Amino acid sequence: MPCASRSDELVFFVNGRKVMERNVDPEGTLLTFLRKNWTLLSKSWLLRLTGTKYACGRGGCGACTVMVSKHDPVSRKIRHFSVTACLMPICSLHGAAVTTVEGVGSIKTRLPPVQERIAKSHGTQCGFCTPGMVMSMYTLLRNHPQPSEEQLMEALGSNLCRCTGYRPILESGRTFCMESNSCQQKGTGKCCLDWGENDSSPLGKKSEICTKLFAKEEFQSLDPTQELIFPPELLRMAENPEKRTLTFYGERGTWISPGTLKDLLELKVKHPKAPLVLGPAMKSQGHFHPVLLSPARISELSMVTKTSDGLTIGAGCSLAQMQDILAERIAELPEEKTQTYRALLKHLRSLAGQQIRNMASLGGHVISQHCCSDLNPVLAVSNATLNLISAEGTRQIPLNEHFLAGLASADLKPEEILESVHIPHSQKWEFVSAFRQAQCQQNALPHVNAGMRVLLKEGTDSIEDLSIAYGGVGAATISAHRSCQLLLGRRWNELMLDEACRLLLDEVSLPGSAPGGRVEFKRTLVVSFLFKFYLEVLQELKKLVKLFSVPDSRHHSEVSDQFLSALEDFLVTIPQGVQTYQNVDPHQPLQDPVGRPIMHLSALKHATGEAMFCDDIPMVDKELFMALVTSINEELSRALELPEVVDVITAEDIPGTNGAEGDKLLAIDEVNCVGQIICAVVAETDVQAKRATEKIEITYEDLEPVIFTIKDAIKHNSFLCPEKKLEQGNVEEAFEKVDQILEEVHVGGQKHFYMETQRVLVIPKTEDKELDIYVSTQDPAHVQKTVSSTLNIPINRITCHVKRVGGGFGGKVGKPAVFGAIAAVGAIKTGHPIRLVLDREDDMLITGGRHPVFGKYKVGFMNNGRIKALDIECYINGGCTLDDSELVTEFLILKLENAYKIRNLRFQGRACMTNLPSNTAFRGFGFPQGALVTESCITAVAAKCGLPPEKIREKNMYKTVDKTIYKQAFNPETLIRCWNECLDKSSFYSRRMHVEEFNKKNYWKKKGIAIIPMKFSVGFAATSYHQAAALVHIYTDGSVLVTHGGNELGQGIHTKMLQVASRELKIPMSCMHISETSTATVPNTIATAASISADVNGRAVQNACQILLKRLEPIIKKHPEGTWEDWIEAAFEQRISLSATGYFRNFLNQCAFLQGLGESGMFLGSSVFFAIADAVATVDIAEDFMVQSPATPERVRMACADRFTEMVGNCLFS
Ligand SMILES: Cc1cc2nc3c(=O)[nH]c(=O)nc-3n(C[C@H](O)[C@H](O)[C@H](O)COP(=O)(O)OP(=O)(O)OC[C@H]3O[C@@H](n4cnc5c(N)ncnc54)[C@H](O)[C@@H]3O)c2cc1C
Ligand code: FES
Ligand code: FES
Repeated sequence: MPCASRSDELVFFVNGRKVMERNVDPEGTLLTFLRKNWTLLSKSWLLRLTGTKYACGRGGCGACTVMVSKHDPVSRKIRHFSVTACLMPICSLHGAAVTTVEGVGSIKTRLPPVQERIAKSHGTQCGFCTPGMVMSMYTLLRNHPQPSEEQLMEALGSNLCRCTGYRPILESGRTFCMESNSCQQKGTGKCCLDWGENDSSPLGKKSEICTKLFAKEEFQSLDPTQELIFPPELLRMAENPEKRTLTFYGERGTWISPGTLKDLLELKVKHPKAPLVLGPAMKSQGHFHPVLLSPARISELSMVTKTSDGLTIGAGCSLAQMQDILAERIAELPEEKTQTYRALLKHLRSLAGQQIRNMASLGGHVISQHCCSDLNPVLAVSNATLNLISAEGTRQIPLNEHFLAGLASADLKPEEILESVHIPHSQKWEFVSAFRQAQCQQNALPHVNAGMRVLLKEGTDSIEDLSIAYGGVGAATISAHRSCQLLLGRRWNELMLDEACRLLLDEVSLPGSAPGGRVEFKRTLVVSFLFKFYLEVLQELKKLVKLFSVPDSRHHSEVSDQFLSALEDFLVTIPQGVQTYQNVDPHQPLQDPVGRPIMHLSALKHATGEAMFCDDIPMVDKELFMALVTSINEELSRALELPEVVDVITAEDIPGTNGAEGDKLLAIDEVNCVGQIICAVVAETDVQAKRATEKIEITYEDLEPVIFTIKDAIKHNSFLCPEKKLEQGNVEEAFEKVDQILEEVHVGGQKHFYMETQRVLVIPKTEDKELDIYVSTQDPAHVQKTVSSTLNIPINRITCHVKRVGGGFGGKVGKPAVFGAIAAVGAIKTGHPIRLVLDREDDMLITGGRHPVFGKYKVGFMNNGRIKALDIECYINGGCTLDDSELVTEFLILKLENAYKIRNLRFQGRACMTNLPSNTAFRGFGFPQGALVTESCITAVAAKCGLPPEKIREKNMYKTVDKTIYKQAFNPETLIRCWNECLDKSSFYSRRMHVEEFNKKNYWKKKGIAIIPMKFSVGFAATSYHQAAALVHIYTDGSVLVTHGGNELGQGIHTKMLQVASRELKIPMSCMHISETSTATVPNTIATAASISADVNGRAVQNACQILLKRLEPIIKKHPEGTWEDWIEAAFEQRISLSATGYFRNFLNQCAFLQGLGESGMFLGSSVFFAIADAVATVDIAEDFMVQSPATPERVRMACADRFTEMVGNCLFS
């Protein structure tokens, strides 16, 4: 426990309330403090603010975003900024005010516009990301009540959402923006959101299609005066800062926060190894330091000085503050002086996300000397200097390659600290640029980045000085000093460029073992960046030459128009999109909600953080925490000896069945992959349990052979189940009559990243071995069954409850049963409630993901593109246990034909057994991977025939009613109508023309376009899964409680069920309620999956309501003028049962009245993949080229062969 008696008092505010704490853990974060703190802070006020969510714990997803407000001693203003609470050291908050989603508003009190609008704009689905979104938007609005769209994009840039696809979230934010909201749909100049019911929208026929999801005019307006003020007490504290050193002692570490620079420097002498902590880095790295020094209260470190030759920025300034400072200086100075500032600013816009930039300090960034630092290469080439200070005095060192390489002679001494960084102005004829290539534009570390500076001799294009530095290509930022020296005096022309590329490839050596791999790609970037710089400088030279009428200007190289697009950066703009839905029949009663765009039932609660997820359930009496030990920990085996550890759960503790043969819950003797669960530790807190897992020692002996890839598995004949095969027609015979292509396609896997990690709370009851299990799952009945067999107790003693799930995508179908069962063993053994919450690392390690696929196809086709025969063989990487791999293989081959009628087909599939964590169900269940193989084949046929892919697709699509390969009659009417509508509404052919024109004119940038059809049959393979039940109660006040077998994963199933019940019972949805899904109310449920849950459960709810209405009919007939409440009262008096079970089976014939996008939607994204492939195909490369999936920047770049990839190839070869 932290040592309260010696600690100083940490003072800060949360949502306007004062927190005074002596009991803080210096290793603790704001997130843990908010979520877990049980201290009674004032008469009736507990913190325990669970609206702020844990999803990644690494600052990468934004789910834990809160707003911090501080008084800035330099500007004397209050600064409001967003931070990720999971990386915010709790001790760093002394003197700050924190606002969480609960402090913004609540449905019980006041619902401010930011929360109202995200909910009403349909910006929430599972709602797990929503509090973070709200907080990022709220902070933006506190600073800019009418933000620009660019500011909105920047504010939300590092908030992930796995459900909504961002469009509605951005749409809600956009309602605050000053720019026009118009999406200028199809050139009509009118926003799709403004199409009224009587307009003739291009999206559909008059009155049939609607796009208006919300009425802007009904929204409350933003009133900044309603917001929480900065606490006057904190203002007083900031204006009269305490100079005393504050110390907070914890169980293992101490946090020291000096009040003066002198004290800090003395402390640094006393604790030379203690890091200075300002930003998020320490937390994200997870290293332990016994002493942490916080310079947060030292105003000298936040000073900014503008000098005649440059800008000196305090090391304590955050990167966000640095952005503002640079922007201000750029506005003040002539362009020629601000080249470096512009380059830094460019990188600062894409470096991490806004929350991290608000937290990370310039000092921490520079001193970390991270090999991927975005700022250090630019600072290094622009001759920045570091102003150091220690108790001994001050000195300056250059921020150069020696410092960045961490050479002791060029680095800080242990007792020194960085006070500020001096960045000189650039000068006339000097050009500075920054380049960066990352997995995505925002919130991703760069693969490679660079800073480049050239000084040309005045009035000429000859190089006087040149500096180039790269990040991401070695263990530190690397300077190409030798190459630059050799190029001095050269003219800025093509000859110099060629020579420079050769020199750089020689000097910036990247061995095959370079960190992060991707050597060829990185080397290509090294020269590609130089080429971009070359073009940029040429363009700038052109301007200067015009301006100064330089005498030998006709000798300067020129940039051809075709090359200019290489200089344009991709803009981060709000994506344009619109959701359309069919208007209901005008005669439909107003009360009947079916077909209307009803807001998600929990949307407002999502937005205020009041929606409870599994780990938001308050701690129960005597609760203990469990952490899993997987086959990776290799430390000391003393876990049980630690005083805080209550127990270690192993396979021997399982009273019943330990999973299945070859798929054990807890491994015994043998593990087949990294991440297999071996045992679990139970302790009083999550931190203690987690730390104890690191003390378990496991000795491994290697098993042979070790198989990771599909190719290895094929070689070793390592399969999980027998081959699956479908055949129709005569493939061999058909091949004899056509041209042929043989191809291979790799489709990569995908890790599960539902925002809410796997979690479960098991509460053992005192009587009859009963257990209550609260679990985040798509299949509570499966959890219940698995717990029953593991504990060897009947199913009827176990009740599983699912209130809502923070995203599942298939990853919460099978795996939650494993975690539920292990936690239940712990609960039974210890007699305590057990909470098990996986951290993101464990979740990603243990739970597997989408199966990677290796597909081989042989296609036979005529020259007009008609495919006559197709033979596909697919192998999936199933990992080390069977899990759902056999079913996934079946689905994959069943759906391989996609939307095409090909007479002669042969599909074969096999699930490979490898030494990887078992792959599992994932949205689409094999269909996306399989269909990608088929569509790649179609694209290849198009390339061979010299026809656009859409023509081949059209030619081979089902045209008439026919039997599918799985012998189901299929009527393609909807498919054809949908295809034609998509072509029409997207103006596909005019866009295709535009793309072709653009590609002709631009050499370095290419556009692509694709349209992909999709036939997706919903449902499970086993017909026994096509059943559902519901239970509907009517209470004597007329209110209705609906329960059904589906789980709320964000898809809005509860909302839909109430729409059905409302239509059937003819009463408003507001009279109805759904509390949770529980195995005690609806037994033997089927997993919420396969895109049919709303359909089958909807039918069951309908059935229950119809039964009830039938019972009420005589009463209603007798008193037609009566109210619903009158009828219910009368029914009760007449002893008519007001509770009914509804049941439904045989899905295929009678369903699909509620069909949404479900699993099938996953494959719609493939159109982006094929559009990229289309763009790449326009580059002058091998004719039968195909981008492999996923189409990462690396694959796309390397697929686009050019002089630079060639240079790298030649260089590697030589
Ligand atoms: C989620 C996330 C994403 C990121 N993405 C990117 C990215 O895309 N690009 C990029 O370039 N960077 C990225 N970063 C790194 C970030 O820019 C910072 O470099 C990093 O956070 C370090 O800064 P800090 O303030 O957190 O350091 P701190 O934790 O405060 O300190 C780091 C180190 O510097 C030392 N130190 C700090 N201040 C001083 C001082 N004044 N004098 C002497 N020593 C000092 C400390 O002792 C410590 O050893 C990311 C960081 C995170 C957490
Ligand atoms: S950013 Fe904090 S939980 Fe993801
Ligand atoms: S609604 Fe955003 S993650 Fe589910």
